[in-house]
Amino acid sequence: MGRIDTLLASMTLEEKIGQLNMVASSRVITGPGELRDLEDGIRGGRIGSLLNLWGLEETRAVQRLAVEESRLGVPLLMGLDVIHGHRTIFPVCLAEACLFAPDLWEKTARAAAEEATEDGVALTFAPMLDVARDPRWGRIIESPGEDPWVACQMAAAKTRGFQGQDLAAQDSIAATAKHLCAYGAVTAGREYASADVSERTLRELYLPPFAAAVHARVAAIMPAFIDVAGVAMTVNGNLMQGWLRGAAGFDGVVISDYNAVAELLHHGVASDLVEAAALALNAGVDIDMTSNAYVQGLAEALKRGLTTIAAIDASVRRVLALKERLGLFDDPYRRGSASAPAGRAAERQTLAREAARRAIVLLSNRGQALPLSPEIRRIAVIGPLADARGEMLGSWASAGRPEDAVSILEGLRSALPNCRIDHVPGVDIAGESTDGMPAALGLCAEAEVVVLCLGEAAAMSGEAASRVDLGLPGRQRALAEAVLDLGKPVVVTLSSGRPLTLPWLFERADAVLATWFLGHEAGHAVADVVTGAFNPTGRLPVSWPRHVGQIPIFYNELPAGRPYAPGVHYTSTYLDSPPTPQFPFGHGLSYSRFALSDLSCEPARLKPGDSIDVSAAVHNEAGVDGEATLFLFVRDPVASVARPLLELKGIQKAVLKAGERKTVTWRLPVEELAFVGQGLEPILEPGRVEIHVGQSADPEGFVSGAVELVL
Ligand code: NOJ
Repeated sequence: MGRIDTLLASMTLEEKIGQLNMVASSRVITGPGELRDLEDGIRGGRIGSLLNLWGLEETRAVQRLAVEESRLGVPLLMGLDVIHGHRTIFPVCLAEACLFAPDLWEKTARAAAEEATEDGVALTFAPMLDVARDPRWGRIIESPGEDPWVACQMAAAKTRGFQGQDLAAQDSIAATAKHLCAYGAVTAGREYASADVSERTLRELYLPPFAAAVHARVAAIMPAFIDVAGVAMTVNGNLMQGWLRGAAGFDGVVISDYNAVAELLHHGVASDLVEAAALALNAGVDIDMTSNAYVQGLAEALKRGLTTIAAIDASVRRVLALKERLGLFDDPYRRGSASAPAGRAAERQTLAREAARRAIVLLSNRGQALPLSPEIRRIAVIGPLADARGEMLGSWASAGRPEDAVSILEGLRSALPNCRIDHVPGVDIAGESTDGMPAALGLCAEAEVVVLCLGEAAAMSGEAASRVDLGLPGRQRALAEAVLDLGKPVVVTLSSGRPLTLPWLFERADAVLATWFLGHEAGHAVADVVTGAFNPTGRLPVSWPRHVGQIPIFYNELPAGRPYAPGVHYTSTYLDSPPTPQFPFGHGLSYSRFALSDLSCEPARLKPGDSIDVSAAVHNEAGVDGEATLFLFVRDPVASVARPLLELKGIQKAVLKAGERKTVTWRLPVEELAFVGQGLEPILEPGRVEIHVGQSADPEGFVSGAVELVL
């Protein structure tokens, strides 16, 4: 008998259920409900895993209780939301998505895993793979954006980064792909609300990123705590047993979301904790995170015949297998037993700065206001986000300390030592007072340039942070308009966890940078871009709406029967706004200027098993070296079901010296043109497929061609 069989054979029912029970520590609170006594539960074998605890001493102390003082000595699994960094905080996920760079996505996850393991953590609840088309939803900040192809790349890169080559290594942590699925589609963007999406949309949009994570051997999956089309995901056996464990081939652990099993009572699908526990377990949820429903309900569920010991054993086996895969049985103290090599901290800081500056998106730059001229000697830095270290950390700061962050003000001061830089916030982020405005305007009047640092507080996005108004909170608009009225050059930084609808600002400001929440190196990163030390490369992973009324908005929509035509009445638009976004998916300016030409796609006719070779020339027409990002889109103009106007299939980056021209290439297997047919199975259809290469999803500037699929 192997270790797991032997253990299972010697466990009491209470100990088995204990392995399925995850309890929260009080070090940080990430959800509702009461905290439970850890020590007795661990000694008694009634707790198999913990969340929200880190620190070598802290984790070792509880691990010792499990290993040395519980009857069977099964080690604990220590989980934490290590989302965008652990001690070193990287840009929030939506900002990181702007990099369109899987190698860097992997590196930041690797660094986070190394730091988290140094603190005794063995499991993270990341990557979050919820495709998000609705910026009212606060958790868009944690998402890879609106595109499923990008989400798939993110899934693979983050899983590789967190888990490393070998999950048993002392610097690897188990990753949890979450939240299965369609959480980003909550009604009206309202947190925790129900979602209703078609089977096709599930298969084409929301499930592929999870399939990509499973393909990368992700260790765990977390179902969303919402319901989709009336079925609470925590009890969705069709998806968890059928699709996930069946079709997708997942063999890891399913961990419920926080308190989600007990919340089945609120969903109205269980009448008590006993039923809730049985429903979740039968649907495939192995670990009950914090609701205590398994502990309170499973034994009784067995008596009532609502579940079976075989189902309990199967889940316990999977949990023990994960602990084994993590090497916890061989050495429960392995994580954190070696100290980080010298120089690691500096390397991580460099990585954080690189990720942060690459996450910045230059949204507009009228009259080339940026980069700032080196001649400038006096700058007014205004606004409530200018000197706000803590806000820079974003929604999941893990063990990151605000005092280690560099504010925008500090970053500019250190980059421009010969420049006089004065600062007054003017207003608070969300307060009603305008008492500070006269002082701010006074400074602006004396400055050559104003850097206006506006946006949300970090806590205004993330979990339980949906908003109906995506404007600037508090009196920031009043401040901005008064500053703009002075007629000075104004450069705006927008710190936020989502696109903000500010058409008036984009019309008037000389330059606007989306600076999201960039993590510890925020200030240096912003200064790098503002001064031109770094030529911006960030691109939007979401369509940026003009108005809340356009939401949900995304580039890969299906064609309308009466497509939008400006000025034509019976077409798909609004009376009071064009339907197009303020900035399209993929938008992001550079200090260089790139032009595309010479698209070629070969061969002209293809059959299954072939690949399309696509190439396009890109020319840096500016006098500044820069990096272009090129997007490869396809469109199937006539098919048995309506196909999106555009679908992303690849990206390429090209680093170009001033005046340089290069050719970029892709090889696209024909199978990637398959889609979900009327029978809800993937199919390939014969016919013409358009190929478009562009610098964003805006068709203007595309170079285009077509191939013919012959079956
Ligand atoms: C609830 C969130 O939905 C989930 O993403 C997170 O991992 C857990 N809380 C644990 O903090």
